Amino acid sequence: MGIGAATASRLAGDGAAVIVADCNEEAAQKKVSEIQGSGAEAWFQYVDLSSPSSIEKMGREVTECVPCLHGLVNNAGILRTASIAETGDSDWEPQITINLRAPALCTKALLPLLRKGPGHIVNLSSEGAFIAHENRWVYTASKAGILALTRNMAREFVGYGMRANTVAPGWTVTEMHFLRSEDPAAKKAELESIQRDTGVIPRLARPQEIAAVIAFLLSDDASYMTASIVHVDGGRITS
Ligand SMILES: NC(=O)c1ccc[n+]([C@@H]2O[C@H](COP(=O)([O-])OP(=O)(O)OC[C@H]3O[C@@H](n4cnc5c(N)ncnc54)[C@H](O)[C@@H]3O)[C@@H](O)[C@H]2O)c1
Repeated sequence: MGIGAATASRLAGDGAAVIVADCNEEAAQKKVSEIQGSGAEAWFQYVDLSSPSSIEKMGREVTECVPCLHGLVNNAGILRTASIAETGDSDWEPQITINLRAPALCTKALLPLLRKGPGHIVNLSSEGAFIAHENRWVYTASKAGILALTRNMAREFVGYGMRANTVAPGWTVTEMHFLRSEDPAAKKAELESIQRDTGVIPRLARPQEIAAVIAFLLSDDASYMTASIVHVDGGRITS
């Protein structure tokens, strides 16, 4: 869904064969069918990013299908809100495992294929790694961890001709904010109002605008970029 779906479409449009890995088979298959309908190559790969054994299985299954990979986008993430005082174990565990541990485990599982590509890596952080928010400290901590993880990947993998970069989106119109919201329209209005007051570009991002930057970082046009953090937040970083 969201930024991942837009990225799959963008990369397929640019000529890539795309593997859409997700735990939501219905949504992912819909995207795969749409891409296939446009004449590009795509297929679905099940993975539950909260489970190390599922990630290992994904790595084995992808290895049976393709000889190498030219890119990996560690995109999927979840957002749960709670104050520091109210945060329970159930808030910690899924956000840290899915948002921070999974990008490391997926990269490890696919590293033999990425080395052969070579494949470049884009990891998704967030403006939350840079700007203080109330009630989302576990999420923002996981997204701050992505910055260190990516820098380490860049250093460790340069010898294989691989690059690793971070994209830090601002508020983007996706299911992340609206799927679980009791009143999606009110939530959207609230985010739009904050963006108007604190951003430079006074509107929310479209997922395609994040996907375009991801596609650029995976391309040879970004050949001298590694360990970089690219803010795609309409200027929220200035707030
Ligand atoms: N939307 C925003 O405003 C925003 C802002 C900053 C950063 N981001 C980051 O961008 C990335 C994409 O966000 P989005 O808004 O597109 O999210 P989204 O909620 O729209 O989509 C997330 C995708 O991740 C998948 N997913 C969730 N848990 C999974 C699991 N356990 N195993 C496999 N797949 C799983 C979902 O099925 C879905 O396809 C995330 O890392 C998010 O933190 C988003």
